[in-house]
Amino acid sequence: MDFPGVALVTGGASGIGKATALRFAAEGCKRIAIADVNLALLQKTESEISSTYPEVAVKAILLDVRSQASVQAAVDEVVATFGRIDYCANVAGILRFGDTVVLSASDFELVYQVNLRGVFFCAKAEISQMLKQEPLVSKDSPWPARGAIVNVSSQAGLMGNGDLPCYVATKHGVVGLSKSDGLKYAAKGIRVNALCPGTIETPILGDLPQGEAGAKRAAERTREIAMGRVGQPDEIAHCVMFLTSGRSSFVTATTLAAHGGLR
Ligand SMILES: NC(=O)c1ccc[n+]([C@@H]2O[C@H](COP(=O)([O-])OP(=O)(O)OC[C@H]3O[C@@H](n4cnc5c(N)ncnc54)[C@H](O)[C@@H]3O)[C@@H](O)[C@H]2O)c1
Repeated sequence: MDFPGVALVTGGASGIGKATALRFAAEGCKRIAIADVNLALLQKTESEISSTYPEVAVKAILLDVRSQASVQAAVDEVVATFGRIDYCANVAGILRFGDTVVLSASDFELVYQVNLRGVFFCAKAEISQMLKQEPLVSKDSPWPARGAIVNVSSQAGLMGNGDLPCYVATKHGVVGLSKSDGLKYAAKGIRVNALCPGTIETPILGDLPQGEAGAKRAAERTREIAMGRVGQPDEIAHCVMFLTSGRSSFVTATTLAAHGGLR
């Protein structure tokens, strides 16, 4: 794959975001910014990328997607450091359980601010920058690209879940934002898509309880997955590579689901 431009990954400290940043490096992207609210973990990811891929320039940026000023400052810092932004993976997200009767208003507000409004702030700053920059040509496509954005939604962006109403609502919202921005900016050479992972083994799932209860919970996680297993973060990172690279030059304003087959 060919990534001659600059990558920005939010939620880059952990899980899918970390795997995505490492995958960008493995696929030859030489300028990578990772941003996250967890600075200590982010710096560990930065060190891991630098030591594994010494030829890659990696920049870690403290970011809270709940704040528009923080998002704008992060995007400005990427441009000040690397000159432009070409491949954006908006991955930062949180999960709160609780049906509509149980879920508190403050948890609703928090999940909304991180998962949906946060993606809106990121897309707004990223697209504004992309519109200012000249298109790049990669070896993967004859079509010059001004930028490509992948907003990480979820299988919860495609169906309901009675125990996760707010998470589901925000992830449906991410799909809607992505389809709308994809349509709006297609003619400017900017592609925007939503990626909908199924159950992926990352810290967001929480620790399994010990013993029988843990085994029961693990079995529940895979019951509806046709492949009979949960996914790994790098399997989602590969989807991000496809959606940000020239290999998906005719793909925009749509969703890619990666969930191992849902029954
Ligand atoms: N793991 C799954 O099963 C799964 C499935 C579908 C979708 N997703 C989505 O994938 C994305 C990544 O999740 P993950 O599974 O890698 O979990 P994770 O907890 O490992 O990573 C989430 C990252 O987001 C960061 N983050 C949280 N709030 C933030 C904020 N306000 N500002 C900046 N960064 C913030 C966290 O610090 C963390 O590094 C999320 O959007 C999640 O909803 C995960």
